[in-house]
Amino acid sequence: MNILVLGSGGREHAFAKKIRSSKHCKKLFIAPGNSGTAEVGQNLRISYNDFQEIKKAVLQHQINMVVVGPEDPLVNGIHDFFLNDDDLSNVMVIGPQTKGAQLEGSKNFAKEFMNRHDIPTAAHQTFNKNQINEANRFLESLSPPYVLKADGLAAGKGVLIIETLDEAKKELHKMLCENKFGEAGSQVVVEEFLKGIELSCFVITDGESYKILPTAKDYKRIGEGDQGLNTGGMGAISPPPFVDEALMSKIEETIIKPTIEGLKKDQIPFKGFVFIGLIKVDDDPYVIEYNVRMGDPETEAVLPRIQNDIVEVFESLYNQTLQNRSILIDERTAVTVVVVSGGYPESYQKDYEITGLDKVNDSTVFHAGARLDNDKIITSGGRVLAITSLSENYKEALKTSYRNISKIAFKDMYYRRDIGFDL
Ligand code: AMP
Ligand code: GLY
Repeated sequence: MNILVLGSGGREHAFAKKIRSSKHCKKLFIAPGNSGTAEVGQNLRISYNDFQEIKKAVLQHQINMVVVGPEDPLVNGIHDFFLNDDDLSNVMVIGPQTKGAQLEGSKNFAKEFMNRHDIPTAAHQTFNKNQINEANRFLESLSPPYVLKADGLAAGKGVLIIETLDEAKKELHKMLCENKFGEAGSQVVVEEFLKGIELSCFVITDGESYKILPTAKDYKRIGEGDQGLNTGGMGAISPPPFVDEALMSKIEETIIKPTIEGLKKDQIPFKGFVFIGLIKVDDDPYVIEYNVRMGDPETEAVLPRIQNDIVEVFESLYNQTLQNRSILIDERTAVTVVVVSGGYPESYQKDYEITGLDKVNDSTVFHAGARLDNDKIITSGGRVLAITSLSENYKEALKTSYRNISKIAFKDMYYRRDIGFDL
């Protein structure tokens, strides 16, 4: 069959590579893609939010399956758009319809869902601009640090963690009354701060049954020692060594099962990924967020460990036969180190030539913010490359990734040299 992947990051390069290796994939397209996806398929110059252009491409190239990488097209209703169009309704779309995408698209929706289905999460309340006094009173009842979350999608920037009550009240005012995050901040979830270690848990579901995919730990801060600004993610380790059977079984019983059952009870159709961001407080997992897609850079560590023909797994979402399928997982540890443009996540320069990629061995380089310019590979974004290695343990795998990164160069290149420092 012919398959289209939507997106342009390292996650989409990882998907494209995996799909390319499937015996069921005839032609592979990526919109808009990057220099890495161009090596395994044909990039289409289409924005992943331009549904009309996507429709044209799907009809022109006789595409049978669309795999949606990022959240925006899902929250914007790409799956519903396909279902409601007679020309597209039999194309398989991997990713939920808008109703399910609200788990990521609205923090308040996610919180209400968790309350309804008794899923452990931080204590919280939601406020709009007419409730600023109540919101301040709720803040006063909490102890620091304070967590404020814009309800809607805010490109990963909508969560603030603030040390003092005064500052928290000021920021809350900016969000609710001064449009700090635009419409996304017109409602704000104020919540209790959870102290513990974070974990990304991935589940694939056809709406009836589910399979648990490998877990990963993401390193979100720009600086070593987890200092500085939040980024999309600077590295990932799958599985993190602290995830044992006891923890996984708690996660499955208290979080995954009620989530999938909750979707069914609420009559929310869902064919795709549920990415559950967790914090382990002492020995107990709490949900801090749902995403309705895979993580980036977690995908670059998780997918290389999945040994199935991924297209067969996707097809089973469509036929609701996931239950009959086993997910085969490479027992080794995968680590991913992300290489970024100097200055990221604030402003940075791009269009620098990347050299040394041909010298890499024993690691896989996933391209993210990188594009082809004639025969050269040029930086085009903040996160530029993700270098993944597999080994019996994470320390060996890290050595391989770092050895290969030392062969790669571009102007102002930066990466964290301490991925895994806390394990
Ligand atoms: P989110 O977008 O909800 O994943 O939040 C971004 C980051 O903020 C998370 O990865 C956590 O590091 C942190 N965070 C969110 N909610 C909480 C919380 N209730 N307690 C502690 N940290 C949090
Ligand atoms: N790495 C976190 C995310 O994809 O949201």
